[in-house]
Amino acid sequence: MSRKIFVFDTTLRDGEQVPGAKLNKRQKLEIATQLAKLGVDVIEAGFPCSSPEELQAVSAVAEQVRGPVIAGLARAVKQDIDIAWEAVQKAERPRLHVFLGASDIHLQKKLRRDRESAMEMAVEAVRYAKKYCEDVEYSTEDASRSDFDYLCRVIEAAIGAGATVINVPDTVGYAIPDEYGDLIRRLREGIPALDHVTLSVHCHNDLGLAVANSLAAIRNGASQVECTINGIGERAGNASLEEIVMNLKTRPASYQAYTDIQTQEIYRTSRMVSRLMNIPVQPNKAIVGANAFAHSSGVHQDGILKDRKTYEIIRPEDVGIRQHNIVLTARSGRAALRHRLTDLGFELNPEQFERVYNRFVSVADRKKEIATEDLRVIVEIELTRVPETFSFHSMQIMSGNTMTPLASVTLLKEEQKLTDAATGNGPVDAAFNCIERIVGQQGKLRDYDLKAVTMGRDALGEAMVRVEIGDSIYSGIGTSPDVIEASTRAYLNAFNRFFANSQA
Ligand code: KIV
Ligand code: ZN
Repeated sequence: MSRKIFVFDTTLRDGEQVPGAKLNKRQKLEIATQLAKLGVDVIEAGFPCSSPEELQAVSAVAEQVRGPVIAGLARAVKQDIDIAWEAVQKAERPRLHVFLGASDIHLQKKLRRDRESAMEMAVEAVRYAKKYCEDVEYSTEDASRSDFDYLCRVIEAAIGAGATVINVPDTVGYAIPDEYGDLIRRLREGIPALDHVTLSVHCHNDLGLAVANSLAAIRNGASQVECTINGIGERAGNASLEEIVMNLKTRPASYQAYTDIQTQEIYRTSRMVSRLMNIPVQPNKAIVGANAFAHSSGVHQDGILKDRKTYEIIRPEDVGIRQHNIVLTARSGRAALRHRLTDLGFELNPEQFERVYNRFVSVADRKKEIATEDLRVIVEIELTRVPETFSFHSMQIMSGNTMTPLASVTLLKEEQKLTDAATGNGPVDAAFNCIERIVGQQGKLRDYDLKAVTMGRDALGEAMVRVEIGDSIYSGIGTSPDVIEASTRAYLNAFNRFFANSQA
């Protein structure tokens, strides 16, 4: 008989630990609302004790998002638990999620405690959390590298203290599927009390096995999976929600398990997370990558035209990807644009729609046809706008293989034109130097990604940067058919985020 697997989404907590991916309250709410629409069972909204802003953002999710359980993470100490409770108490169904290391290396090196005192700490923390909240999850951090007998004792003690969910994380992504599946089976066989609580798994992707390990755990009796959209998360990431869900859906006989995820919402959620967290999705990413349903070889295309099932095991529409026949050009009016945007899952208010329409017209003037990807980027840019302390006005570049590249950039600040010129190790570097001179602030480029978002010589170039400014990292995104302009806009966008943050 098929079992329900509870989907615990930690995009807003473990996913948000990706450098540069920090969300503000409005962005967290937007993603949490979409996760509820996607049908996740639990949203881990954050780690409330990490900052006052995080506490506010998690509280807003707890107050405003209805449907899923809303969890807040806490270390096994009273102060963290107090703050986590303050954040989630107004949720329809709150959960406190308490964690403590269980492996000897975590106990000795990180916590400097022996096993018995760590176990007492765990019990005390669960009892304390339980005073606030009926639903308490206890995570045995680094479980996959822990001594099995000790792990069993800690789990029994946590259940005895009132834990309703026990999580067995592969914190460092060290496990391999057979072994991890076995661990889950042995725990279930060795601890009868586990039959009365939810048994959860949380896998990291350091060896690229997070999804495989989660599925092995499901086959061996786990009833909750912790995962993130696009597999984002600490270091190499977490298990990807969309991959786990589509495995269960595509191979029901093998797993005998299902989730309540509305799979048609997957693609939209993936794009939203990528846009708001500024983390691109690799093109060959399973389920949601740009190439996941693209067939390029002639043999494959021939097969697909005869019967899609020759080379497709999942229908793109089942994950919310739609094919379109209407071509959008500069002559397409508002109605056509609105229709396509609705199809793509964008719900824009009138003011946002006008901004998108204006940019659409200006890009369409320069490009013959606006492809779906162009449109998506245009919308994403308009929706992730930050107040512009400096706005882009114009630029000129002189470059060649026999000269030092020279850039001149003009920005606007409160209607005033500010122009400067600089040289650099290439035209992009020269333009970035101009920006720094005008805004009066230095940045260190930590990451730079440039891609053509459509085919053809007139493709729209999209640049994404991460820039260290002050003691934080800011992401920036920019588009233009001119790749140097796209890069310059992206760099400026990162600085505007810095200024917006400093003024907040
Ligand atoms: O990876 C991990 O162990 C965690 C815990 C806090 C669940 O993220
Ligand atoms: Zn984790």
